[in-house]
Amino acid sequence: MAVDNHHRIWRDGKFVDWEDATIHVMSHVVHYGSSVFEGIRCYETPNGPAVFRLSAHMRRFADSCRIYRMPLTYSPDDLSQAAVETVAENNLPHCYLRPVAIRTGEQMGVLPHDTPLEVFIIPWTWGTYLGADALKNGADVCVSSWRRPAPDTIPTLAKAGGNYLGGQLSKMQARVDNYVEGIMLDSFGHVSEGSGENLFLVRDGKLFTSTISSGILHGVTRDSVMQIARDMGIEIVEGSIPREMLYIADELFFTGTAAEITPIRSVDRIPVGPGKPGQITLAIQREYMGIAQGTLEDRYGWLTPVPARQASSTGSRKVRREPVGDMSASAF
Ligand SMILES: Cc1ncc(COP(=O)(O)O)c(C=O)c1O
Repeated sequence: MAVDNHHRIWRDGKFVDWEDATIHVMSHVVHYGSSVFEGIRCYETPNGPAVFRLSAHMRRFADSCRIYRMPLTYSPDDLSQAAVETVAENNLPHCYLRPVAIRTGEQMGVLPHDTPLEVFIIPWTWGTYLGADALKNGADVCVSSWRRPAPDTIPTLAKAGGNYLGGQLSKMQARVDNYVEGIMLDSFGHVSEGSGENLFLVRDGKLFTSTISSGILHGVTRDSVMQIARDMGIEIVEGSIPREMLYIADELFFTGTAAEITPIRSVDRIPVGPGKPGQITLAIQREYMGIAQGTLEDRYGWLTPVPARQASSTGSRKVRREPVGDMSASAF
C-alpha cells in the first residue's frame, strides 16, 4: 500500500517535510536489516485525538533498542512527548504512528561499530488492517508453512524490521491461496501468531493465548485484551497451544494495534464454531474499541490526549481529514 498522505515527520527532535526524511543507500539498515520500530494508533475521541497505550509502546521500543545494543539517546517519556507533538504538528484527528530507529552511516560490514542511530516518528492515516468486513464478520485464515524463529535464533520480543521477513513470506503465501492471513507455528510446532497479530482462542468460556516463549511479539493489544478479559471474569490460560486447538476452538481472534480485535471465522477452510464471530470476541472488541475511541471510560489510563496546537512552527494548519481506507489489500 502506498501511503498517500505526506505529513511532517519527527526526525531526531526536528520536524521535516515528508520528502526530506531520507537516508543514504549505503546505510547499515539497508544491507543488514538493523532497524527496530513501533506501530501505535491515535484515535479520534469526543475530546480530540488520543494516543492509545503510548507509554507501553515506547517502552517496548526502548527494549527493542536495548536488545540490539542500539544507543538510543531518548527516554520512553521523551519519545512519548515527541509522538504527541507529531500528531499536533500535523493537526491529525486520528492517525497511525510509526517510530523507527535505524542504523545509518556509509560504511560496510555487519558489525555496527560507529554507525549512527537515527530516530524518526512517521504519522499517516490508516484504516482497518485486515478489512472492515473481517472486523465485523471474521477473517478466513490458514496455518502457514512458514514458522516463527526458534528461541536461539532471532529475538522475537524485539520488534525489529528483519523479523518481518518471515511474516512477509507467510502473508504472501496466504494471499496467493486466498486467505486474509497466515498463522505461523513456532519452531516446536505450537501455535505462535500472525504476521502482525497475536492470537486468542476461546474454548468452554476460557481464553487461551500463546506464551511469550512461543516466538511471539509481546503485543500491547494482547496485554490490553488480557486486562479487559480478566475484569470480565474470564479465565485466561497462557501456554503452548497445539495446532489442532485451532480447529476445535469455539471462538478465535487476532489482536494487534493495526488489526485491533479481528474475529477469525475459519482456519484452513474449517469454520470456527458456527463460522461467525462469537460472543466473547464481540464483547472484548466492543470494550476495547469503546475505550480506544473514548466512548467508554478510560478506566486503565490508556489514552494520552493530544492538546490542540494553536500555531505550529510552520504556522497554524487546517485539520487534515484524509479518507480512511481499507488497507486489507496491502501487506504490513
Ligand atoms: C509480529 C507481530 N505480532 C503481534 C503484534 C501485535 O502487537 P501490538 O498489539 O503491540 O500491536 C504485532 C504488531 O505490532 C506484530 O507485528
